[in-house]
Amino acid sequence: MYYPEETVEEVRQRSDIVDVIGSYVHLQKKGANYMGLCPFHNEKSPSFSVHQGKQMYHCFGCGVGGNVFTFVMEYENFTFVEALKFLAERAGVKLPEIEYSEEAKRAADFKGKLYEINKLAAKFFFYQLKNGQGRAAYDYFKNRGLKEETIVKFGLGYSSKYRDTLYKYLKQQGYEDSFLKDTGLVTFDEKHGGYDKFWNRAMFPIMDAGGKVIAFGGRVLGDGTPKYLNSPETKIFDKSRNLYGLNYAKLSRKPYMLICEGYMDVIALHQAGFSNAVASLGTALTGLQAALLARYTKEVLLTYDSDGAGTKAALRAIPILKEAGISVKVVNMKPYKDPDEFIKMLGAEEYQKRLDVAAGSFFFELSVLEQSYSFDDPEQKTKFFHETAKKLLEFSDEIERTNYEEAVARKYGISYDMLHKLVIRYGSQMVVVGGTYVPATELQKEHSSIRGEQRRQKREGEDAGMQAQKLLLTWLSSEPKLFGRVKGIITPDDFNEGFFKDIASMAFAQYEQEGNISPARIVSHFEDKEEQTRAAELFQTGFREEMDAAGQKKAFEDTVRRVKQSAIEQEIEKAMESGDIERFQKLIEEKNRYKNNFPIPEYIPE
Ligand code: CTP
Ligand code: MN
Repeated sequence: MYYPEETVEEVRQRSDIVDVIGSYVHLQKKGANYMGLCPFHNEKSPSFSVHQGKQMYHCFGCGVGGNVFTFVMEYENFTFVEALKFLAERAGVKLPEIEYSEEAKRAADFKGKLYEINKLAAKFFFYQLKNGQGRAAYDYFKNRGLKEETIVKFGLGYSSKYRDTLYKYLKQQGYEDSFLKDTGLVTFDEKHGGYDKFWNRAMFPIMDAGGKVIAFGGRVLGDGTPKYLNSPETKIFDKSRNLYGLNYAKLSRKPYMLICEGYMDVIALHQAGFSNAVASLGTALTGLQAALLARYTKEVLLTYDSDGAGTKAALRAIPILKEAGISVKVVNMKPYKDPDEFIKMLGAEEYQKRLDVAAGSFFFELSVLEQSYSFDDPEQKTKFFHETAKKLLEFSDEIERTNYEEAVARKYGISYDMLHKLVIRYGSQMVVVGGTYVPATELQKEHSSIRGEQRRQKREGEDAGMQAQKLLLTWLSSEPKLFGRVKGIITPDDFNEGFFKDIASMAFAQYEQEGNISPARIVSHFEDKEEQTRAAELFQTGFREEMDAAGQKKAFEDTVRRVKQSAIEQEIEKAMESGDIERFQKLIEEKNRYKNNFPIPEYIPE
């Protein structure tokens, strides 16, 4: 935090959330809340609610939420400091001159300057498109069927034929070589000095999820190599963490996202109305990209090229997406090569039909497997069923696996009983290692299954503990007098994850000092938008309305006990590791105390 907390708090208090959001969104009073159409996703009936008392907002449709800073950051695509300055100005609060640490100042300035210069370059390339030489690129885009509005929407451009047009322009704007060398836009060598990275190419600005230009892809006009040239990694561009088109796709309000291979596919899809399309940036899909997508969707349809490379890419992407909790289907575009070509040939309606019948990832994988066996040969057919049986073991849920066994039996004409027997046989011979089944020697089997089970239990225990911590924070913040009931039992130290612990410390301190808590103030403690949203989620109640008073009381008390127990469990583990037997025994006793309906005292006002 560059500015003192009091300043941030003053700005927040002088920026009434209803007033600020009301200047962007039409709000109507409904009970304690103001409701309106969510500005972060498309909707027809209002699910965006603003709470004046709490000074928070929340959308029941898309799940966004936060305080007045979060809103402005999200809406205007500001950093925290930009949002602070904006609201300070609006509220007439004068911000103090800040003493940045040299280091912090340099880092912040540097990133800010990178965003600035990428935006400037994008504008420059865009301008060139309508200028002299740029005609060739403009015609290229037109020939590929792009409409004017699409060219504008994606900010497409042209990089000049000459070796240093952009370089000269940037120098003219006052940028120094020492900075330019780290922007990825200019290359330096001893013989030639500075020259542009991109020459005579059709330019695709790459934007982050917030819509800021962070890099470029440049395509040759015609047939040269490399076909695409991409910006190198910089302080603001990490190609494994961004997805082309996500800035628009996240607003598409569709139940799934489409992942395709290239820039042109994304653009063609958006133009045809599939505004939920994204692409990775010239590399295979990464786990970071899958995690990024998981914030916006639970389902992905892969629409990779129909060739061998596309199939391979799909097979690689499936486990990565599944690992991130996303379910996957694969779109068949044959006989056409990619979505761009498909839509050009058959149109959007036909493409939608292909989406509607896309195969689930399991059957897609099976159909690829099938191709390496000839079913006319009994031996090969047998092998195929053996492989399939092993694959079926990937479903750990028995009901799900049974359903798949039935479906496979139907599809490939083998009796269910026979297939099931085979699955069971492999099940007893295989062990899970890193998520997939491998044959077990007796020893391996013993070890990894016990360890695996322990690991699984531990992970579930941790999740349950965290769930309880989260819930407790929600309870406490929605009804601060409950702090009185956990006094002497729960302290901020019982929250074991850094994030929850931070929130708990602030909440406990606020209650201690003021007898109340201010969710909006806690949210402003975090500068990162993701963290703000995560914090804001804690303060969205609603679940309690479905419970009667007795149910609520029991749920609250169970939660308190669970938090305490999971905190003690963490300590027990530490004691075990350090071999401190005495402490270990004491902790076990303590943990037992909190079991068995340990009474949670009633609140007594002081
Ligand atoms: N790509 C790349 N470098 C290359 C070739 C491809 O980075 N030399 C990346 C680009 O992001 C490209 C994607 O891989 O968009 C898909 O490549 P390809 O299928 O060859 O490109 P298309 O999108 O089909 O390109 P076009 O339609 O323009 O020929
Ligand atoms: Mn392609």
